[in-house]
Amino acid sequence: MSNVFIVGATGGVGKRLSPMLVASGHKVTGLCRDQKHADWYAQNQVERVDGDIAKMSVAELTEALEGHDTVVFSAGASGAGKEVTDAVDGDGPLKLIEAMKQQGIDRFYLVSAIPEAGRTKGLGDGFEHYMQVKKNTDAAVVQSDVDWVILRPGTLQDEEGDGAVSLAKALPYGPVKRGNVAKVLSTLIDTPEVKREIVELTDGDIPVDEAVNTLAKG
Ligand SMILES: NC(=O)c1ccc[n+]([C@@H]2O[C@H](COP(=O)([O-])OP(=O)(O)OC[C@H]3O[C@@H](n4cnc5c(N)ncnc54)[C@H](OP(=O)(O)O)[C@@H]3O)[C@@H](O)[C@H]2O)c1
Repeated sequence: MSNVFIVGATGGVGKRLSPMLVASGHKVTGLCRDQKHADWYAQNQVERVDGDIAKMSVAELTEALEGHDTVVFSAGASGAGKEVTDAVDGDGPLKLIEAMKQQGIDRFYLVSAIPEAGRTKGLGDGFEHYMQVKKNTDAAVVQSDVDWVILRPGTLQDEEGDGAVSLAKALPYGPVKRGNVAKVLSTLIDTPEVKREIVELTDGDIPVDEAVNTLAKG
């Protein structure tokens, strides 16, 4: 079983992923930037380290990661502006990788985005910036020497999962339930042979276990 550190544990994906991991026997810790989530952490048997990834140094993140063997980034600036996007979605994963190296942690799961999301919809400058930052971060993570997996979901739907997905190295753009993203992440964490892969994810008609197994076979 793994000791998993999640940035974004209380987000739409993270709040579904965390209890799944706990139910499978993993130990889960979340980076908590707001005390209002304290009850949620206690109720879900998720350990808490207080901190804001936009403000934390690599040294502080290194301390936070002590005792963990797996790191998940599922945080997001959620339209808070370009500077926050740079600090959270851009610098956040890269600082985490530096901290992982200090702790000798190999396994990193990054929630990114299908690059075609929002194409031609004129969603504005902030959205374009967010998509560029996500892509640039993917490119930097790919150059790192940890065992990364980059999961690129389509547009997230705030729904529980039905366990039926499309998951492949390249997919036509489409939506995906946050519950399905959580289930895929949880299954990937239980399938460590899938590593150094970029995978795209939408809702579909393949059971999650089967879809991840297919990836694991290469
Ligand atoms: N929205 C989409 O359609 C879409 C599509 C593809 C990919 N994605 C990506 O999917 C991932 C998950 O999205 P989501 O919708 O589940 O996220 P979300 O509901 O917006 O939640 C974001 C999480 O990140 C945490 N967070 C934000 N800033 C932080 C900071 N500075 N320090 C520490 N934690 C911070 C939030 O903490 P609080 O709970 O305290 O706010 C929350 O737990 C994100 O990486 C997002 O970019 C989104």
